[in-house]
Amino acid sequence: MFLPPRSTSWQADCPPLLGNSKADLSVPRPAGHVQSTAKRRLRTRSVAQFRCYYVFTYIESNHRLVELKNRKEARMECLRNAWYPVCRANALDEGLFAQQVLGERIVFFRKSDGNVAALEDLCPHRFLPLSKGRRCGDAIECGYHGLVFEADGRCSRIPGQPVVPSSAKVRSYPTGESMGLIWIWMGEPPIADPSRLYRLPQYDDHRWRAVHGG
Ligand code: FES
Repeated sequence: MFLPPRSTSWQADCPPLLGNSKADLSVPRPAGHVQSTAKRRLRTRSVAQFRCYYVFTYIESNHRLVELKNRKEARMECLRNAWYPVCRANALDEGLFAQQVLGERIVFFRKSDGNVAALEDLCPHRFLPLSKGRRCGDAIECGYHGLVFEADGRCSRIPGQPVVPSSAKVRSYPTGESMGLIWIWMGEPPIADPSRLYRLPQYDDHRWRAVHGG
């Protein structure tokens, strides 16, 4: 548990609401000064009050932070475990395509087998967006120092370094394609089910025609 250090400096930092302000402490005591018992008691009680003030404020704010974090995580989890449409399929014809989904930057590209790869758009080396790099087969080469990341997020090459540490990787996301759109699953990969991608029953019906809006 956090406790303020037993020095006068923390007392000086305390708010003056308990009557033991910075100004009081900065006043030099005359030589041979003897505090009266009443003053000493007041001072001792103030110190105890200060300690309680800090300890309880810390505990309370910590609880509140943990509670907020749990609530936010729970909310984000239920939002993440879903398929999200990202772009039209033809947006990947050009090569790398960057998009922000649920506040995270993602880079998309189409692999040689036709499937779509989605990687975290942030090189773990010096944090350059991978979308500023270039395609290198079914991988992306970072435009800064040339680290190569495969479609599963694993780093496969570091220039000038024969051994690639296993920690060198970026997050990869499951993707799907439906109705001419690219979809991404931002949640837990094992439960990403492509059969649950939304599909309009009329989309493949020749009596209907799809018109893409702006
Ligand atoms: S920032 Fe990507 S390789 Fe250095």
